[in-house]
Amino acid sequence: MDLNPEQAIGIFDSGVGGLTVAHAIRQILPDEKLIYFGDTAHLPYGDKSKDTIIRYSKEISNFLLEKSCKTIVIACNSASATAYEDLKKDFEGRLLILNVIDPVVNYLKNNFEDTKVGVIGTKATINSGAYEKGILSECRNITPVSMATPLFVPMIEEGFIFDDISNAIIRSYLSSPMLKDISSLILACTHYPIIKNQINKFFAFNVEIIDSAKIVAAELKDMLQSRDLLSRSGKGESEFYLSDYTEHFAKIAKTFFEEKISLRKVSLK
Ligand code: DGL
Repeated sequence: MDLNPEQAIGIFDSGVGGLTVAHAIRQILPDEKLIYFGDTAHLPYGDKSKDTIIRYSKEISNFLLEKSCKTIVIACNSASATAYEDLKKDFEGRLLILNVIDPVVNYLKNNFEDTKVGVIGTKATINSGAYEKGILSECRNITPVSMATPLFVPMIEEGFIFDDISNAIIRSYLSSPMLKDISSLILACTHYPIIKNQINKFFAFNVEIIDSAKIVAAELKDMLQSRDLLSRSGKGESEFYLSDYTEHFAKIAKTFFEEKISLRKVSLK
């Protein structure tokens, strides 16, 4: 594979939620140029079929390849859970591909054993069974239990974060008997880090809340370092593309990236 350190890190998501992952990458790798693509014209991916998510993910990966990226970071859990294997088949050897699930499974493998771990995400992520498969095949005696919590995405996007509505939805999902006695909970969705404090509070800080964005960013750094692909130019300027643009996306992008960014609309066809 003929990659060079000054190529950009390509990242994609179904929308602006993946900016939580882009932000974690920006924090740990400030010198890198990021190219982010959010497929706002097609979101949410969490309610779509595997075939449709694969089709969209391939189109976006081609865009990142044309932009000469050195990686495809699949920031979206729904796409990581359903499209990773297909993207690997088509793009491996041309650039590096990282999903958001394997780094979390590695983290569990290195830090937990003999315990019960919860996973919450979209329907596409949970129905794929991707986290369960990874945990059962890699980890010592960890029992995964997973639950779709689809209302969290629109709730967060509509700004219901610290109020009675969000508290009621959080309580209703997380008091499920399925999550009884878990020692940790994986936030298997780009949006959920935004309500991490409220989830922590719900469990009275007795459950470790695993926010995959930081874990993925650390694994990406290792991946680039071990291949001598970390940027040396220190420019670090970034480009953010969306397949559809509204003022609302611009507003919530700031919540996810924690700073104002300039968004460009691009059509892939
Ligand atoms: N980005 C998606 C994920 O992490 C959540 C939003 C959606 O359903 O498109 O699964």
